[in-house]
Amino acid sequence: MCGIVGFVGHKNAANKIINGLKRLEYRGYDSAGIALVEKGSGKLCVIKTAGKIADLEHEVQSGYSGSSETGIGHTRWATHGKPTKDNAHPHATEFIALVHNGIIENYADLRKRLASYGISLYSDTDTEVVAQMISFLFSKGASPLEAVQQTISLIQGAYAFGVVFNKHPEMVICARQGSPLAVGTDVDGRLSLGSDAVALSGFASQIIYLESGDIAQLYSNGNLNIFDKENNEVKRQWQPIDKDQAAPDKKGYEHFMLKEIFEQPSTIKNTLTHYIGRAVNKTDNVLETNIHPSGLNWNQINHITIVACGTSYYAGLVAKYWFEKYARIPVEVDVASEYRYRTPPIYEKSIGIFISQSGETADTLAALRYMRSLGHMCAAIVNVPTSTLAREADAVLPTFAGTEVSVASTKAFTAQMTVLAYMLIEALKTRNCIDLSADFAKEILDINELISRALDTMQKLAPLAKKLSKAKDIIYFGRGALYPIAMEGALKMKELSYIHAEGYAAGEMKHGPIALIDKGMPIIVLCPYDKDGLFHKVVSNICEAETRGAQISVLTCNKGRALFKEMGLKYSTYLYPETTQFTAPMLYSIPVQFLAYLTALNRGVDIDQPRNLAKSVTVE
Ligand code: F6R
Repeated sequence: MCGIVGFVGHKNAANKIINGLKRLEYRGYDSAGIALVEKGSGKLCVIKTAGKIADLEHEVQSGYSGSSETGIGHTRWATHGKPTKDNAHPHATEFIALVHNGIIENYADLRKRLASYGISLYSDTDTEVVAQMISFLFSKGASPLEAVQQTISLIQGAYAFGVVFNKHPEMVICARQGSPLAVGTDVDGRLSLGSDAVALSGFASQIIYLESGDIAQLYSNGNLNIFDKENNEVKRQWQPIDKDQAAPDKKGYEHFMLKEIFEQPSTIKNTLTHYIGRAVNKTDNVLETNIHPSGLNWNQINHITIVACGTSYYAGLVAKYWFEKYARIPVEVDVASEYRYRTPPIYEKSIGIFISQSGETADTLAALRYMRSLGHMCAAIVNVPTSTLAREADAVLPTFAGTEVSVASTKAFTAQMTVLAYMLIEALKTRNCIDLSADFAKEILDINELISRALDTMQKLAPLAKKLSKAKDIIYFGRGALYPIAMEGALKMKELSYIHAEGYAAGEMKHGPIALIDKGMPIIVLCPYDKDGLFHKVVSNICEAETRGAQISVLTCNKGRALFKEMGLKYSTYLYPETTQFTAPMLYSIPVQFLAYLTALNRGVDIDQPRNLAKSVTVE
């Protein structure tokens, strides 16, 4: 989603801004721009493109010959107004230029107000009203800080913005409310600003994450003034930049997504190591598992509400199956954009679990704030420990997946399920289901091995992916805890290959969706053998679909395939290691990710940055 960078007092600011924007490309965007303030003349130079950073870089190289030390840059993910050059940021007037991430909800009122001052707007964006208002107040004699403060008092919505003034080449002002924004400093005390640490790694050695409501003035001599939402000057803590957030590297893989799929055995292991220990007792060679305490008191928790978006939401749905079946704790799972608007009942002894890779998803954050405002304990499962969600939650359970660059989430998803599995194991132990807890701990400690074995055979999916790449629609079937994985498989397929795909609970098919099936419709079925009886139920559902002409491909295990053979059913089968109902969702995530990857590869689309998508969805 929109990304911001800015530099003050840096030689060749234009280059630095372009490099900073390149680091932000992973967030997803559709246009970009840069504004520079000339030191002597105070001239503002704005260059924008409706294309990629490479186009912007080309335009800057060919069209800019100045030597500015101060400037701001932006990648825009369009919300209000198409991704055109006019709508791209920075939005500039004679006096100022501004970049913004967020949504100004009362932009229509502000447009009217500006019109009454005789100011008309050139773009269709919500952002331009902020630029015009600051510029208007500045032109009427307000200082830069006053112009920003007065404008902020007029705007409603979420924002992170950076603004430069023609008469102040020595300064950048930035502010945030809701959307994330950070200030960086290098070893020589030169200041920069960025949407996240990734944007600033390589330039800054330390970082301050601004609090919601903060306004900061960054000067070329290294002075930094921060004001809180009451306009009191405050000090915020510098933190070293996490090396892990340094510029991402594909390490020889063709795509970040492929690299991240193959990293899963080690990212799951990293996550497990933090939560569950394994020791060999030397005397009798027995494996011991040690469940590290999370600080949550499972004896006091009788209800769970899980809130998340997209792939993270599906991790929550898997956890619902786990917690209800094994720990007998009722679980509600909500998509974050719905949660607070449906005025949900609040339960006694209930905990909220908020799941997010980025920790910056606006809907998930808003839901967390809503639940906390009702006095509820909220835990966050996040992959970015410095994120807003991590900072605002009462308890944080980090995933240790490392920076996820591909817009489509893979390794963060399995790491989220790993943490949820650990929470289940801890809950079982605390609630006196010691044996089940120990069994699950042993099982989960082996999942990375099973995933490694599954990854060794992934290329076998290539002929299927080739066929799927020509399909118009694809259906995924799953049951039990594999139903969320069927939906996740369909989501991955949609976002990467742009093929319409849906995941269904296989038994639900005959209640409507079966009408879609005609000759050749591909159906991917997640159907490992399981002793609880769902295997045979899925087989019946497959038969119903096959009789109507569907082309069935089954992801299963040896035992599953043997049973298909016994029943005389000849489907294309893809084999994976034996699992239980508990570990199956984690293992079967891998082939559905890979299938979507290979299908997209066949279609020649942009795998790491699919169209219209953003890595970090910072607007509601
Ligand atoms: C899909 C995907 C998205 C995210 C969703 C939530 O591959 O990546 O559906 O899962 O936008 O993002 P986070 O987890 O950062 O809150």
